[in-house]
Amino acid sequence: MKLPINIARLQGEIDTLALITEGQPPVVTRVLFSEADLRGRALVKNLCREAGLVLREDAVGNFFARWEGTDKSLPPVATGSHIDAIPNAGKYDGVVGVLGALEAIRALKQAGFQPSRAIELIIFTSEEPTRFGLGCLGSRLLSGVLPPEKAALLKDREGKSLETWRKQAGCSGRLNSVRLRPDCYSAFIELHIEQGLVLEKTGQAIGVVEKIAAPSTLRLQLTGVGGHAGATLMPGRRDALLAGAEIALAVEKAATTTGSPDTVGTTGILRSEPGAVNSVPCRAYLEIDLRDTLVKTRDAALREIEQAARAICRRRRIKLEMERLNVDPPAICEAALVNAITTICRTQKISCRRMISRAYHDSLFMAQVCPTTMIFIPSYKGYSHRPDEYSSPQQIEKGVAILAATLAQCAGSRA
Ligand code: GLV
Ligand code: MN
Ligand code: MN
Repeated sequence: MKLPINIARLQGEIDTLALITEGQPPVVTRVLFSEADLRGRALVKNLCREAGLVLREDAVGNFFARWEGTDKSLPPVATGSHIDAIPNAGKYDGVVGVLGALEAIRALKQAGFQPSRAIELIIFTSEEPTRFGLGCLGSRLLSGVLPPEKAALLKDREGKSLETWRKQAGCSGRLNSVRLRPDCYSAFIELHIEQGLVLEKTGQAIGVVEKIAAPSTLRLQLTGVGGHAGATLMPGRRDALLAGAEIALAVEKAATTTGSPDTVGTTGILRSEPGAVNSVPCRAYLEIDLRDTLVKTRDAALREIEQAARAICRRRRIKLEMERLNVDPPAICEAALVNAITTICRTQKISCRRMISRAYHDSLFMAQVCPTTMIFIPSYKGYSHRPDEYSSPQQIEKGVAILAATLAQCAGSRA
């Protein structure tokens, strides 16, 4: 079935959503429940309604847009991604999997396809960790990986809680109502940009994800002793920022000495207080992201970083508070789905390869709920989490075509 995918309409919608940002375009910043995030959500909800989908929202703001199937006794097939964006991001991360999936549904509808199973588009809350330090907040709750009572304790930098934020954003109901029932979906397929270089280098159009690397995050609060930058002599200083800087170097060392090229470690946040040029930093705050495809390797590096942080702080007489925000296993994708998508690509004469996702996605947690995989499209130069992130309309169109065919096959049809 050749589907009437309207790539100009889809690109127009991606461009319009990109203008809803806390930054200056082309910078896209849409942090969870910010005014831009709420406006972005409103835009997507409207587009879903215009497409004739039925909307439902849960207590943490995950929303579900449903195309009813002819057999209501069957669990739906689901797709979707996120529209929140980290500071200084681009316009494709997550968005291609939301608006692309919507275009796939519209094209199937226009082609006269009648699904047996419902097809549900899920827009997940806060795939990005910016507000609360924890990525995939919505899908963690949906899968039951994050207990609701733990989620209720989450606070942002200013001490404002998830409970306050979500109520202010209009989300009603209790967090313990978010978890999905077992067998609620027959499958979940997420379309996403690759965010790496593999597809561009190999010249292949589609990546089918077999495994998602295991992420982890540490948060550290260092307390030293501040003082006058001129009058406090160097011997005996207890500078919290310098301890933080040493820890950041220890992260790099741990990540580069595991023997695995797949270990990646990043100190993405290192702030100091009071933040005055003529004052010795009395406090530092770090967030560290560490990943590998193998849990054993990741965990060994994690322990090495924790030990290094303790030793550095002991030597520098700095008080250390350290917390593991998340330590997740990898996801193994459903072989039958991976095979099915590979076959669809072959039938449509679109080149594809099986691959690993080094970035995490809501699929990491949806894989705990139902058979899951992801469809990747190439990213220009592998750029992502930066404003010049780019995938061409032709590349997006191929991703949408493969997603649509996969959804059609998973949903089945009596026609
Ligand atoms: C997702 O944005 C990730 O950091 O992998
Ligand atoms: Mn991202
Ligand atoms: Mn993403």
